[in-house]
Amino acid sequence: MGFRICFFLLILTGASFCNGGITSSFLRKEAKSIDMPFDSDVFALPSGYNAPQQVHITQGDHVGRAVIVSWVTQNEPGSETVVYWAARSHRKHHATARVTIYKYYNYTSGFIHHCTIKHLKFDTKYYYEIGTRPTVRRFWFRTPPAVGPDVPYTFGLIGKPLSRIISIRKMTGICAGDLGQTYDSNLTLTHYEMNPVKGQAVLYVGDLSYADHYEFHDNRRWDTWGRFVERSTAFQPWIWTAGNHELDYEPSIGEKKPFKPFLHRYRTPFQASGSTDPLWYSIKRASAYIIVLSSYSAYGMYTPQYQWLWQELPKVNRSETPWLIVLMHSPWYNSNSYHYMEGETMRVMFEPWFVQYKVDLVFAGHVHAYERSERVSNIAYNIVNGECTPVHDQSAPVYITIGDGGNIEGLANNMTMPQPKYSAFREASFGHAMLEIKNRTHAYYGWHRNADGFAVRADSVTFFNRYWHPIDDSTTKN
Ligand SMILES: [Fe+2]
Repeated sequence: MGFRICFFLLILTGASFCNGGITSSFLRKEAKSIDMPFDSDVFALPSGYNAPQQVHITQGDHVGRAVIVSWVTQNEPGSETVVYWAARSHRKHHATARVTIYKYYNYTSGFIHHCTIKHLKFDTKYYYEIGTRPTVRRFWFRTPPAVGPDVPYTFGLIGKPLSRIISIRKMTGICAGDLGQTYDSNLTLTHYEMNPVKGQAVLYVGDLSYADHYEFHDNRRWDTWGRFVERSTAFQPWIWTAGNHELDYEPSIGEKKPFKPFLHRYRTPFQASGSTDPLWYSIKRASAYIIVLSSYSAYGMYTPQYQWLWQELPKVNRSETPWLIVLMHSPWYNSNSYHYMEGETMRVMFEPWFVQYKVDLVFAGHVHAYERSERVSNIAYNIVNGECTPVHDQSAPVYITIGDGGNIEGLANNMTMPQPKYSAFREASFGHAMLEIKNRTHAYYGWHRNADGFAVRADSVTFFNRYWHPIDDSTTKN
């Protein structure tokens, strides 16, 4: 009898600890992530005197009819002109860049050019040229279709010959955050490029170069990172989010202005969404409304970021952009011991709004692992009721941590145990994800680990839109 009672209690105890989803049992090779050396081929300078390098583009307005083209010249400012033309037109247009340089401790940057080209046609392939002959370099990009809930979207292939064009409906690619510039970073970017599902834009959730890993934040590592990712960033927009490794705040060497290298090198279209700071802003792209937040800027009540978000969320018209997506660096729902609870203060400030406005998806980085939550909220708490446990909430977003780009700090493989109820899938592997928005109701999502083949999805979900199709899309059965 006594044995039976003990056995029964054991079963109960076991059940109470089995509420979470999947902690992947995949075993990857344990190896340190090492930065690629300066003479790596992926960091090679383009040939020719003063040739433009570190070329990158991002969306330049609120709706996708403008593109910001950025590049660096090392020897002299060179040409400030971007020549661009639609692929099916011979009429060439010119736009002029602004040039900036910055100093960081004992480093002086090259000449950093930023040029916004405007009034582009939607869903059109453009070529653009930068530099001075004989070192003119030519690239191309494709503008998104006009903003709307069910617009077809055709993607070109990045990092491959132009002859291969893949036609897929409405899609936004997501590369991992926290990419860095190790051999693993290179593998992640290669997997993103070689994925048979082709992303047109990258939602980047912060921590770019990890230059601050080096003494005096060796800013030459900002340059190598710019050259490393150029094979993607020159051809499709990367939507930038600032992480803690963009702070570069180092008073001991006189560097007291946060985000100095990042803000000189990377532009965002913040003014188009009424923001007063490049670190938080929004864009519309096809059927998605994307809000970028700054985990490392003030967000308490009355602060500029708080005021902006408070005014921003009611502006989102789900009949125009059904998919409401938020990017930030520090995750709110993270069951890894690494950076545990760091996103908690921002969650307390903004989570009730995310539920009120039915945000579909929140992507974050920072933790060097992958995790996907169920739809949960934790907004019932007040100072006396003690209700501080996440609960399933179909008005809440799914939170995805994708800080597994492969940077020099390595993987975060110390998960809290047991797996929390809200955590649907988690794994400490490097990889990237793709989000395929099909229409106003459905989006396919897949996370790909670098250890697998290019087409393999280690975690895949069909998300249902919270506004148009708020059906339970949870994957954990309790
Ligand atoms: Fe981070």
